[in-house]
Amino acid sequence: MSLSAVQTRPAADATSAALKARYGAAAPAVGAIWSDTLDGLLQHRSVRAYLPDALAPGTLEAIVAAAQSAASSSNQQFWSVIAVEDPDRKARLAELAGGQAHIRQAPLFLVWLADLSRANAIAERAGQGNEALDYIESLVVSVVDAALAAQNAVVALESLGLGSVYIGAIRNRPEAVAEELGLPPLVLPVFGLCVGRIDPARPSEVKPRLPQAAVLHRETYSTAQDAPVAAYDETLRDFQRSQNLSPVGWTQSVVSRVSKVAALNGRERLREALQGFGFRLS
Ligand SMILES: Cc1cc2nc3c(=O)[nH]c(=O)nc-3n(C[C@H](O)[C@H](O)[C@H](O)COP(=O)(O)O)c2cc1C
Repeated sequence: MSLSAVQTRPAADATSAALKARYGAAAPAVGAIWSDTLDGLLQHRSVRAYLPDALAPGTLEAIVAAAQSAASSSNQQFWSVIAVEDPDRKARLAELAGGQAHIRQAPLFLVWLADLSRANAIAERAGQGNEALDYIESLVVSVVDAALAAQNAVVALESLGLGSVYIGAIRNRPEAVAEELGLPPLVLPVFGLCVGRIDPARPSEVKPRLPQAAVLHRETYSTAQDAPVAAYDETLRDFQRSQNLSPVGWTQSVVSRVSKVAALNGRERLREALQGFGFRLS
């Protein structure tokens, strides 16, 4: 056996186990391709049960350093994050986000912001106008920047053995969240992120994803996605049964999410909220 084969064999086995957890029977073949980072990414799962312990000193700063290491459109860094640790403030934010108990429970709640206020202030001081900030493009850039930064933070905290879950529900009542956090104009709370040590008594599992045939298009867009989606419904039902959840599959969750405005839980007002925050959306 060659030296390279000795080095790659266990890694390849680990990868195929991780891919099986991620895709079930539809796991793609990746050969001997493997890295610690890839392995960590494949192990991702949202965590909704935390120990109350405070995080080790330096953890927040390390996570934010990872977030700031993400790419940023033209290096404009149109994002910020607020670290909330005060139990009362976390409790109020939990109520604003549909009463999600894990926001109270996690020792740290990060609120990721699409933030054009810093650029606006710099432009005002420079006295050369800020008309580009009026366009939806600038908002999109800031939301993308915030999301890339947050996901880098998630990868970093998971590599430290911590858990997290995104909280999109802070957009249910964006004005109240903005008031709670003292946000200036031109700042949108995009999502929250609970962060903490995982409660070993209530661990979560890797949730399977769509087969790659549903999301990976080669050269041009393919509309032939019915078969992979049907296969995924079965894979997700198996997962849901294993978690003692109702085996509804995936298709039904998409239908429930998109068929009625009520499923947006207040987020259908986002344009109005954004305009109130000073975004002109030209
Ligand atoms: C932008 C965003 C917002 C989310 N909002 C919530 C939320 O408000 N509450 C929650 O429990 N999970 C939330 N999630 C977590 C998703 O439900 C979860 O990522 C998805 O079910 C896949 O599960 P996994 O992360 O364990 O793989 C959110 C995820 C994202 C990316």
